[in-house]
Amino acid sequence: MAKFRHYALVRAESELALVQRESEIPKLAADQVLIRMKAASLNYRDLLTIADVQGNKDGLVPLSDGAGEVQAVGSDVRQWSVGDRVSTAFFPTWRSGAFSPAHLAVALGGGQTDGVLSDYVIAQQDAIVAVPEYLSFEQAATLPCAGVTVWQALFARGQIQAGQTVLVQGTGGVALIAMQLANAAGARVIVISSSDEKLAKAKQLGAWQGINYRATPDWDRAAIELTDGIGVDHILELGGPTTYDRSIAAIAPGGQIAQIGVLSGFGSQPNMTPLQFKNASVNGICVGSVEHFKALNLFMEKSRIEPVIDQQFGFSEVPQAYDYLRAAGHFGKVCITID
Ligand SMILES: NC(=O)c1ccc[n+]([C@@H]2O[C@H](COP(=O)([O-])OP(=O)(O)OC[C@H]3O[C@@H](n4cnc5c(N)ncnc54)[C@H](OP(=O)(O)O)[C@@H]3O)[C@@H](O)[C@H]2O)c1
Repeated sequence: MAKFRHYALVRAESELALVQRESEIPKLAADQVLIRMKAASLNYRDLLTIADVQGNKDGLVPLSDGAGEVQAVGSDVRQWSVGDRVSTAFFPTWRSGAFSPAHLAVALGGGQTDGVLSDYVIAQQDAIVAVPEYLSFEQAATLPCAGVTVWQALFARGQIQAGQTVLVQGTGGVALIAMQLANAAGARVIVISSSDEKLAKAKQLGAWQGINYRATPDWDRAAIELTDGIGVDHILELGGPTTYDRSIAAIAPGGQIAQIGVLSGFGSQPNMTPLQFKNASVNGICVGSVEHFKALNLFMEKSRIEPVIDQQFGFSEVPQAYDYLRAAGHFGKVCITID
């Protein structure tokens, strides 16, 4: 039986350690596909996972987001052929329609479910999507979590319209693909960031306005001024306790806050009352379905968006890639090439 390399999170004293291991490729079931992984990407969630000593099985294969090439198919698989370029879906069981909490338990790369930081991954035939032809494997690997989350937030739920305004927090993976997708939809995007240098880069990439949230802590007021006193139509709430109240202050009447992130932790909750006087909404967003992913990829094909990759690390450099993401100096996504 052929052996392959993968990473595993193993218990070491009070933390989880990343170790490389070898395993045997199991036999494919009739409806499964064997993928030779070519690239993966890290998300902020992967930092939460490695810090969660109790919440994951010992030996968990980390990371949810990857892309690769079909190497073999089960006897009942008709929609995929050897050589097809595919991406894994974050929730393999959420194919379409309404969300069910049961999907949370099988999200890739967390809890009890192995992820994609591996030479090979076995997936159900309906839990993968085709990679748009113009994207590299690394670019495709940036989308399963960050891209699909933004698709659900701004498009499937938010019904974004040309001419609307969008505010994104920071310049990490979710924020930048949100900016690119919103721009392609004809919206104007305000980026808030800790860094003037990152804001300058965001402007080069199409940000309409930038606000440094360190130099201008009351960025909500600045955003209201920039929108002629009206407020912002869509806010991607990524910060958590340090940003909730300002997001509620900056949202326009009838606007939508997509509740997505926890960058400042899981602290105290905001005062929601101002939302009622603006007829504004908060949409809870948890990534998205396979159907959302397919819709995102169709839009990507049409708009030819190139996801922003800050750094690509090799398979032997995975610990460095985690450290790099943790340091939060990145602009866009951090990827692993599975060479
Ligand atoms: N609900 C979901 O389905 C879902 C899906 C994906 C991600 N998320 C969550 O969304 C958040 C972003 O994820 P990501 O993978 O894009 O993270 P990331 O790539 O690591 O982005 C981190 C960046 O956010 C900015 N930032 C950090 N703290 C901030 C704060 N208090 N206020 C504003 N900006 C801040 C910084 O950018 P600057 O240096 O430019 O300020 C930092 O570099 C995380 O909390 C993640 O867990 C949730």
